[in-house]
Amino acid sequence: MSGDRQDKLNILTTLRKKRDGEELSREEIEHFVQGHTRGDISDHQAAAWLMAAHVRGLSRSETAHLTHAMLHSGEQLDLSSLPARKVDKHSAGGLNVPMISGRGLGHTGGTLDKLESIAGFRVNLPIDEFTRVLGECGCAMIGQTAEIAPADRKLYQLRHFTSTIDSPPLICASIMSKKLAEGIDALVLDVKTGSGAFMKREAEATLLGELMVDTAKRMGVRAVALVTGMDEPLGYNIGNALEVVEVIEALHGGGPQDLVDLTITLGGWMFHLGGRTATVEDGEHLARNLLASGAAADKFRRMIELQGGDPRVVDEPRRLPKAKHQEDILSATSGYVTAMDCELIGVAGVLLGGGRQHESDTVDPAVGIVMQKKLGDPAQRGEALCTVHFNSTERMEAARLIIERNIQVEPTLPTQRVPLIRSVIRDN
Ligand code: URA
Repeated sequence: MSGDRQDKLNILTTLRKKRDGEELSREEIEHFVQGHTRGDISDHQAAAWLMAAHVRGLSRSETAHLTHAMLHSGEQLDLSSLPARKVDKHSAGGLNVPMISGRGLGHTGGTLDKLESIAGFRVNLPIDEFTRVLGECGCAMIGQTAEIAPADRKLYQLRHFTSTIDSPPLICASIMSKKLAEGIDALVLDVKTGSGAFMKREAEATLLGELMVDTAKRMGVRAVALVTGMDEPLGYNIGNALEVVEVIEALHGGGPQDLVDLTITLGGWMFHLGGRTATVEDGEHLARNLLASGAAADKFRRMIELQGGDPRVVDEPRRLPKAKHQEDILSATSGYVTAMDCELIGVAGVLLGGGRQHESDTVDPAVGIVMQKKLGDPAQRGEALCTVHFNSTERMEAARLIIERNIQVEPTLPTQRVPLIRSVIRDN
């Protein structure tokens, strides 16, 4: 290695450049990610890098280089043996949906925790079994493996401890390095904004959506991002088994309208980007038909069975874990529900035992909160705002303190109602 190049790739030089707001090259970013993943660059230096990136920001090309380096820090799935296009959705027939998801951390819920509320469901399939399930039923859902984007495992942990989570380029690189490792052709992103989201302001969520769509495009993957509101829960239920119950209701033609509508729209985009339908509208039509015909429920039943779970839950949701106690939280005044702090309501769910404060915590699949009111609904004094499902009175009291203070009931209704889907960011 020439003296010049070695100097340029010195981590101290890289740190100084980013600290002073200069743009890093692809080589410098790769050197940082590879060095940290191998253990040659210390956590102290990586923490300083993350903080400099958080404060100074990363350009679009730096974000793409970071994503690329994190993606190539581990294995990428080769799904070329499956002829159908591979399309995934992040958030939240005729296509393959290979989904690698996370667990809930902090106030957020995790797809894996929800699936694990189904007895026997295995989320830790090895890659060859994952590919087999995908080939047999067209969809499979597993957790991150040690082989996929190992750079993100270390960096995400550090971000958690250095207050550098809420940076759009760092979130983009973290999510996209894992999603792009799935070997997909297209990706539909549901970027949340509002009191329950990482990105509280719509402008930040839009920026994150743009970064992710741009990064996917640079890597040859078609992507669309829907910026959607999270100022109230989607549907009514919060909690692992409780959310599965709501999904099952939707699969049988019921379920909350907002959950069904958003799912149909995301499905419409998946069919369109996957080349199954000419337009998004045709994709939505197809998604509605698959729901109405029971084909979507059949698919879910089959996936559960192939992943070792009890498929009977799809027809008998009472087989899912249920909390011992239920108690309503009542409105202290009469008026309308005007706001809720979904992050804090999520924290209440964690305190009940439904989520984890530390990665090693175990979750109680049965507990949670069922909203009885949505934003804009009238509420009389003494009427239930929500019902808490709990297994420990002490935990219930801790959750009650938070919930009572964070659902607002006011005498008048704000005139402006915002749509659930705020914008659609395309890759053209
Ligand atoms: N989910 C991730 O995987 N990474 C982030 O940075 C945020 C959410």
